[in-house]
Amino acid sequence: MKISVFGLGYVGCVSAACFAEMGHDVIGVDISEHKVDLINKGQSPIVENGLEELISQQKHAARLRATTDTVAAVRESEVIFICVGTPSNGNGSLHLGYVERVCSEIGAVLRKIDRRVTIALRSTVLPGVAEEVAIPCLESSSGRKLGQGFGFALNPEFLREGTSLYDFYHPPKTVIGVFDKPSAELLSLLYAGLPAPLFRLQPGEAAMIKYADNAWHAVKVTFANEIGRLCKNFRVDARAVMNVFVKDTKLNLSPYYLKPGFAFGGSCLPKDLRALAHYARQSDVNVPLLEAAMHSNAEHIRYALQMVKAYGRKRIGVLGLSFKHGTDDLRESPVVTLVEQLLGKGYDVRIYDRNVSLARLMGANKEYIEREVPHIAKLMCGSLEELLRHSDIVVIGNSAEEHEAVLGDLRNGHKIIDLSGLKNVEHVNAKEVNYEGICW
Ligand SMILES: NC(=O)c1ccc[n+]([C@@H]2O[C@H](COP(=O)([O-])OP(=O)(O)OC[C@H]3O[C@@H](n4cnc5c(N)ncnc54)[C@H](O)[C@@H]3O)[C@@H](O)[C@H]2O)c1
Repeated sequence: MKISVFGLGYVGCVSAACFAEMGHDVIGVDISEHKVDLINKGQSPIVENGLEELISQQKHAARLRATTDTVAAVRESEVIFICVGTPSNGNGSLHLGYVERVCSEIGAVLRKIDRRVTIALRSTVLPGVAEEVAIPCLESSSGRKLGQGFGFALNPEFLREGTSLYDFYHPPKTVIGVFDKPSAELLSLLYAGLPAPLFRLQPGEAAMIKYADNAWHAVKVTFANEIGRLCKNFRVDARAVMNVFVKDTKLNLSPYYLKPGFAFGGSCLPKDLRALAHYARQSDVNVPLLEAAMHSNAEHIRYALQMVKAYGRKRIGVLGLSFKHGTDDLRESPVVTLVEQLLGKGYDVRIYDRNVSLARLMGANKEYIEREVPHIAKLMCGSLEELLRHSDIVVIGNSAEEHEAVLGDLRNGHKIIDLSGLKNVEHVNAKEVNYEGICW
């Protein structure tokens, strides 16, 4: 393919050189004459393992050249990758000036050619930037609508500096945010040879993946360092601890605990976090991430309360009271906290939880329920039907399978607030039932 890459920084240089090595005809474009000159001399404008050799090879094979001439580059390209910087403004917001400018420049050339060009935005941008900034700039400067004369896709980049040549050919995944089908097809074809899963996603999802990735990586580093500071204070070697920690691919490094849903609870997580945080305070070791986990969890419960309040109805049915399905353990259940907050605000609450109902009759938790939460035990319904008859809003507290069955029994006007992520929500008749998930 004939490709041009706008922005010859870390991402652009590596992408341009690697696309050329894949056999494509690549033009790198930058406003910096210095960077353009270096590439045309077969040198790398950035320090990156193996890049100088690759640029030199590809330049001599006549598959890679660079220019400051936007017009010539756009005229010769089938696909344009935008890799300009999106640095932080002083207040942390994204600086989109380079994206705006490059889109306006490309659009101005598109106005003069009548061949379809696909534009892929590789720069990291928040959800909405493509729709609200990049595409409007392209449309207004080209005088064309997306799909007529140009196609567009988001194509975030997952390179790590230092190993980016290897990462280009072995990415963890390829992500395409789809605006129009022909552009998505073309990019899929371009990446078809790479040994990585390819995901075609809604544009917002594609943009957000990059931020979720980087936020997660930052949290991982911070977490390891906070555990490290605590370990050192205990005179424990954090490297030995984390070496075993990472070997647990069932619960630690796995999809487990990474599903958006309701707050954590139960008899262990809150208690053990509190013990660590208390020890840290006593020892003058600051662990803001671990402290923040408790605050964030409380905030999540408050958020669920706001969702209920926003609907303005008082008769609430809560399905599932324990902190997760398959248990009758109510200790530190966030659903119990939510129910208590609803009661405090004068809501008329009923609850159905088969496991907790059984526990009330005979289980080891009978005493706990009678001693700690008798006010809540009083609100338990004997059946799902009774709960539904009572409620205008049904709050799904945990993902017990029987809660799925409720979806078929809802009547006109019911609202479901799903904190747990029911699986078969497509069975909900959207016209009759108002469904809202806590994170979706
Ligand atoms: N650095 C990384 O490892 C990495 C990894 C993944 C994603 N990203 C994202 O990719 C984007 C680019 O990052 P980077 O580190 O390569 O940026 P960078 O600042 O190193 O390079 C950007 C280049 O764009 C050029 N440029 C600006 N306006 C231009 C225009 N109108 N026409 C042509 N060129 C223009 C600049 O001169 C510069 O050379 C950012 O959004 C970044 O967040 C970076």
